Amino acid sequence: MPQGDRPIGIFDSGIGGLTVAQEVTRLLPDEQIIYFGDTARVPYGTKSKESVIRFSRDNVHVLLKYNVKVVVIACNTSTSWALNILRKEFKIPIIGVIEPGARRAIEVSKKKRIGVIATPSTIKSDKYAQTILKMAPGMKVVSRACPLFVPLVEEGWLDHQVTESVAREYLTPLKAEDIDTLILGCTHYPLLKTVLQKVMGKGVMLVDSGTETARSVRKLLEDHALLRSSTRPPRHEFLVSDEPEHFRVVAKRFLGHDLPHVRRVDHV
Ligand code: DGL
Repeated sequence: MPQGDRPIGIFDSGIGGLTVAQEVTRLLPDEQIIYFGDTARVPYGTKSKESVIRFSRDNVHVLLKYNVKVVVIACNTSTSWALNILRKEFKIPIIGVIEPGARRAIEVSKKKRIGVIATPSTIKSDKYAQTILKMAPGMKVVSRACPLFVPLVEEGWLDHQVTESVAREYLTPLKAEDIDTLILGCTHYPLLKTVLQKVMGKGVMLVDSGTETARSVRKLLEDHALLRSSTRPPRHEFLVSDEPEHFRVVAKRFLGHDLPHVRRVDHV
């Protein structure tokens, strides 16, 4: 089999990474995807650095069993703590979601004032602010953890008045900082775009790491001559570490269609 005909491996703590997988399939429709959601151990966003690194390492091992050609960490919390470590431990190219999102935010922020919302663990890592300031030292970065957003999305309350009240509570201090760009630093948050845009107002650009990460994946595949050449339609597979039913139900809410192949697998 040509090297490029192997699948792209994508993992997340659970379901949120599907927003990234969706962008990858949109941009690279001929590519085949193996997605692994660690639903037995979700959420990562409230866990310690050590646990997140260990879980992330296990997830790479799961994907390697499927002979993937690249690993995409479609989880901000995993990217925050584990990307650099996993890049040293594994030979396979590994892409995270933070650098692409940070790069895009720097491009679009005219006022040079960027807000970041994410899970408590991602905010604690300070990875977004560090990455932005390394690329563009003059930027002002204001960060805020939004722990209630993930359960609200999982509940499917995407446009609910409770979600809007919670968003106002979290985002009002960011609005006061006069930011013009807001990074959605958690893979669940793109699902809340309508509410977040309403609360922040039209003058604030929302940056979704999924789209930017998909561009980075395409560039990596082009640069390494790893684009898929097979003309057979790709057959995506979705793997989870807990029972598939809940994943299927929430995924349908996320994507608007059923996922045909969802299987439970064990870590090792
Ligand atoms: N996927 C996680 C992230 O992007 C959010 C869900 C979780 O807490 O595990 O940070």
